[in-house]
Amino acid sequence: MKDVVHLEVEFETLKDFWSPRVIAQVNDQYVKVAKIKGELAWHKHDDEDELFFVVRGSLVMEYKDRDPVHLAVGDMHVVPRGVMHNPVTEEECWVALVETVTTRHTGDVVVPRTKTIEQQLSGDAQTND
Ligand code: NI
Repeated sequence: MKDVVHLEVEFETLKDFWSPRVIAQVNDQYVKVAKIKGELAWHKHDDEDELFFVVRGSLVMEYKDRDPVHLAVGDMHVVPRGVMHNPVTEEECWVALVETVTTRHTGDVVVPRTKTIEQQLSGDAQTND
């Protein structure tokens, strides 16, 4: 991990959508950055909450059992553990994430764009699709 991390630089050098990069670790949590566009996949994380912070663009967090949550730049939202969710965005969106080190970013499902934690740590994960 770098001593000093600059959020803007980390985003600028992210090439692929839906390919989170770990930029810091705090205890048992990773801080990640990701560029997203379109939708990921319906999934849940049985034992882990997941924090989303919108840095650029906007994002809708869709839920199966409640109304969607609309997030604009500067908005922060915690997805509760065990709840089915799906992040959706029409335009390119930049999000910072805080996730437990054991969290898989597509939760309980594996889709073509699912990245391993090794890929997220390497900083240059390529899309699989
Ligand atoms: Ni999730």
